[in-house]
Amino acid sequence: MTKKILIATDKPFAPEAIDLMKEVVAGNKNYKLELLEKYTNVSQFKAAVKDAHALIIRSDIASREIIEAAPELKIIVRAGAGYDNIDLEAATEKKIVAMNTPGQNANAVAELALGMMVYIARCKFNGKSGSELLGKKLGLHAYGNVGRAVARIAKGFGMKVHAFDPYVPASKIEAEVIKVEKTVEELYSNCHFVSLHIPATAQTKKSVNFELLNRMPKGAVLVNTARKEVICEDGLKRMLAERKDFRYVSDIAPDCAEELMKDFADRVYFTPKKLGAQTEEANINAGVAAVKQIVSFFENGDTTYKVNK
Ligand code: 3PG
Repeated sequence: MTKKILIATDKPFAPEAIDLMKEVVAGNKNYKLELLEKYTNVSQFKAAVKDAHALIIRSDIASREIIEAAPELKIIVRAGAGYDNIDLEAATEKKIVAMNTPGQNANAVAELALGMMVYIARCKFNGKSGSELLGKKLGLHAYGNVGRAVARIAKGFGMKVHAFDPYVPASKIEAEVIKVEKTVEELYSNCHFVSLHIPATAQTKKSVNFELLNRMPKGAVLVNTARKEVICEDGLKRMLAERKDFRYVSDIAPDCAEELMKDFADRVYFTPKKLGAQTEEANINAGVAAVKQIVSFFENGDTTYKVNK
């Protein structure tokens, strides 16, 4: 029986990525790809997923409602890193395998993080005298695939890279000529720039708070290409109000974005829509990996990159 792979993306992949995703299963009668792009409501998603055996998403919400609307579904692949948009409990209950495609979009996100650092250090390109990244200390709050890519590029700028990640052996981080910080407090105390690469979990939500941010030295810049949920927005507002030297750039606008833009326009910047992974290359890498993972799952029972129980 032909298996339907539904690609449901509110934010579409580049056309080149779709072509290459199709190529993975071209001529293979066991699979057909179907596209649902830029959908405007959940009922469209529910209707499309109804007879799908596999689902590929980006930041799209694979809620319990979606999962329960898909009786044939065996696998969900989040073409990207963070899988906080999948109801893992519902997936596990329905014996659906959930996966991500780790590392595939890391370079794209890292390039944006450095781009936003330059942008804010140069006063949002408004013509005033800004500052340089050379010699500044950059703290990586987590050292996964994106953190590592940021480190690689930041070293090219001549930044001094520090990292805090209790889940990665210190020897591995040190081997890449990066100073390991033993506590998150030390990371913030020591670094002019902090770049967030933590996932949004019960432990991390609202964990980047005023107490932590206020440890940062003069001229502090916080860069967020991770998730808005990890920020304590009250703490962020207080930090911007009390520390006139502090700046915040984010690829995921906070809920209080409008207020921040009104009060601190020259010290905050938010991209119009999360676009860290929005490059043709990252779309190809993550999209093709997702289709290959699905085929390998059905053909060989391969559950590498499974993220649920
Ligand atoms: C990720 O978790 O991979 C990034 O946040 C990218 O998300 P996107 O695929 O929605 O752009």
